[in-house]
Amino acid sequence: MKVNVSFDQSDFNKADLKVVAAYTNKNADGIQHTLSSKEIMDEMKALKISKNFIAKEGTQLLFNLSDGSSVLAIGMGKKTTAKAEQIRRSIANAYKAIKGELYNSVAFDMASFNAVNKLDITTALTKEALILTAYDFNKYQAKQNKNSFKAITLFVNDKKVKRSLEKKLVEVQNLAESVCYTRDLVNEAPNILHSEEYAKRIEKDVKANLKGVKVKIMGKPELKKENMNLFLSVNAGSNYGPRLVHLTYTPKKVTKNTKHIAMVGKGLTFDTGGYSLKPGASMMGMKFDMGGSATVYGAFRAAVLNNSPYKITLILGMTDNAVNEKATMPDSVVKGRNGTTVEILNTDAEGRLVLADCLDYACDQGPDYIIDAATLTGACLVALGSEVCAVLGNDQKWIDSIKKSAKDQDEYMWQLPIIDEWRGQMKSHIADLRNIGTKKFAGTATAAAFLENFIKNDVKWAHLDIAGVCDSQSHLPYCPEKGGSGLIVRTLANLLS
Ligand code: BES
Ligand code: MN
Ligand code: ZN
Repeated sequence: MKVNVSFDQSDFNKADLKVVAAYTNKNADGIQHTLSSKEIMDEMKALKISKNFIAKEGTQLLFNLSDGSSVLAIGMGKKTTAKAEQIRRSIANAYKAIKGELYNSVAFDMASFNAVNKLDITTALTKEALILTAYDFNKYQAKQNKNSFKAITLFVNDKKVKRSLEKKLVEVQNLAESVCYTRDLVNEAPNILHSEEYAKRIEKDVKANLKGVKVKIMGKPELKKENMNLFLSVNAGSNYGPRLVHLTYTPKKVTKNTKHIAMVGKGLTFDTGGYSLKPGASMMGMKFDMGGSATVYGAFRAAVLNNSPYKITLILGMTDNAVNEKATMPDSVVKGRNGTTVEILNTDAEGRLVLADCLDYACDQGPDYIIDAATLTGACLVALGSEVCAVLGNDQKWIDSIKKSAKDQDEYMWQLPIIDEWRGQMKSHIADLRNIGTKKFAGTATAAAFLENFIKNDVKWAHLDIAGVCDSQSHLPYCPEKGGSGLIVRTLANLLS
């Protein structure tokens, strides 16, 4: 589906379906909705049902005009309180209401949705919401859902915004398509997207779409040379080689003030738990355990396409966590890249082992800031549900800027603390660290207390646990009902812009 923008009123007038926003602001006749188009409003008033339509958020009214075309009025609530997220959600609901219908042409009246009072932003948000909502992962289904219409027109009644809008539309398309790219990766089956294939796919996408980005891919021999034994210990039982994908983006203009940000992602293409095997029901869905890497890649992709001013290093640690006779046994002691020894008491706490070596490697690339993303702990779901992303780290200013970026993008993020008692829980009797805490609580924070040991050179570090938000649980109308949500890509891409 294409999303076109038109400044020509006749493109709106001739559309089979006109989508307009309606607000609860009362007007003179006591009718509890207001539309910006007087012509449509007049015809709407003549309808008997019109008196009953209170344009609260979440309501919709479909009716016909005398010229034979149709109108879908989308309830938005009070005009004064509408926010960006409300536009995203309303547009998503509008799209869902019409997607299976037979209209030849559909046009949205952007002025009517312009509750944030910035017509260019409203139009860009609409395009973003349409791309995010139209997403479908159906490549393995014989019968594919087809949209009846090929394009949607966004009618903008003010040519003054044309220049600023053009730039915003390109940026939002890069962003939304990158969110969908992340979803595609997360949704792929683990027998297809194993570590070797995953690395190839990223390399192919970089070569095709991200001009100027340097690619380095490391396999088992290179990881051995780098002493990344914690990472390798997770891969020990696997049929597929481990992959460390290292991408570097350098902006066109670099000065001594150019900040260097490294992002690190957990890329477990499947997590059986290893010898500490997960029960069947908990193992289901563990293809999404590469979601952290897919999320930071999506953000990197959008940032590069939108010419980020930062130098960005991306490190993706890819393997599955499988079991065979070579798999790592619980009680093993393994020395990581930074020389720290770890007693691996539970092979299901594998993500932190991969991240540990990747974080140490990332620090050596000389970044000012590091952010990692991982589907790291089930405890994160217990604490924050499937709606809120956890953030922890060693630098409050860095964490605050990430939280602000999440807020700007209407994505939920909440900070959890790392306290000395939890740091203490990660000390081992026979090695420097153990890979699980001594108590069953605070699992998200003890995991972060473990990771903290692999940050060096005073790099400012933040960790995102996306175990809850990565898999869509249908609380957002612009996310798929099931499967990869693509959440947090927007927060990170915004951070890098
Ligand atoms: N990938 C899982 C985390 C996870 C579990 C995400 C459930 C989403 C839903 C991770 O590798 C894991 O297994 N973590 C363990 C850690 C424990 C052994 C300390 C967990 O959360 O149970
Ligand atoms: Mn695990
Ligand atoms: Zn895992």
